[in-house]
Amino acid sequence: MEIFTEITALRAFLSSQKTSNKSIGFVPTMGALHDGHLTLIKASKQQNDLTVCSIFVNPTQFNNPNDLANYPKTLEQDTRLLRSVGCEVLFCPSKEDIYPHPPVIRLSFGDLEHIMEGKFRPGHFSGVAQVVAKLLHIVEPDHAYFGQKDFQQLKIVETLVSELNFNVSIKHIPTQREPDGLAMSSRNMRLNQTQRQQAVIFYKSLLLAKKRLSEGVSFDKIQEEVLALFETQPGVKLEYLEIADVANLTSKPRVTADAVLLIAGYVGEVRLIDNLLLTE
Ligand code: PAJ
Repeated sequence: MEIFTEITALRAFLSSQKTSNKSIGFVPTMGALHDGHLTLIKASKQQNDLTVCSIFVNPTQFNNPNDLANYPKTLEQDTRLLRSVGCEVLFCPSKEDIYPHPPVIRLSFGDLEHIMEGKFRPGHFSGVAQVVAKLLHIVEPDHAYFGQKDFQQLKIVETLVSELNFNVSIKHIPTQREPDGLAMSSRNMRLNQTQRQQAVIFYKSLLLAKKRLSEGVSFDKIQEEVLALFETQPGVKLEYLEIADVANLTSKPRVTADAVLLIAGYVGEVRLIDNLLLTE
């Protein structure tokens, strides 16, 4: 695996590969890699001649300085995992290379950036879009891979790419889960044993909500039931459970087949999110 820490060196390498007509798949990450990330890498490897993975803990998308400071950093293990699945290129730039001066351009996304994650993490999606735009310009991939685990992020990236005519096709990869249903996440590493067991409440709540919807129960009532479920467990906190249209997230679905359930909250100090398509 080729490892680059500088934009200019990566660009020089990739342009030599592009002249030999190799297709490029790109998987942007913040590291602390797990099987969810590796599924994206494997999908890219299947569909492209060369796969680039980036690891960059992007400061502009963290609204909470503690969350940024505590974000797990496991570069050695990440490198080993990427080698084990045959990733061809790792790009891990420094903060100075990506942000040589404080950025002045801000991307905004209307309602999409202010609901759910946007409401609880002001400025988060503007930061995500900023770094994704930069990385897509640096790598210029044919395909870029994103997980459905971060459903609202996926919608932000799709909006960015379609409104600004980026020449890349965005691929979605279904959420990878632990055997008990907990969505894989780098943040799970921060849970102690008790918290790890409690964390399954997010997926259980999504399944409960889906079942209650199929029984014809109103969504307001379901939100109350899920809140009551969270209140039975000390140390867990529900921020939101919402239902939204899969196409844009900003409107209520007309029929359940168009719907996605989205949930977020805390186990101890660790913030977790999850979602479930009603067609899943
Ligand atoms: P990160 O949280 O490291 O996630 C990188 C990619 O892996 C994202 O597309 C995310 O949706 C996907 N992913 C994470 N957990 C997953 C799971 N359990 N199943 C499937 N895919 C999963 O998301 C980011 O980094 C950043 O915001 C980034 C896009 C890199 C911009 O900084």
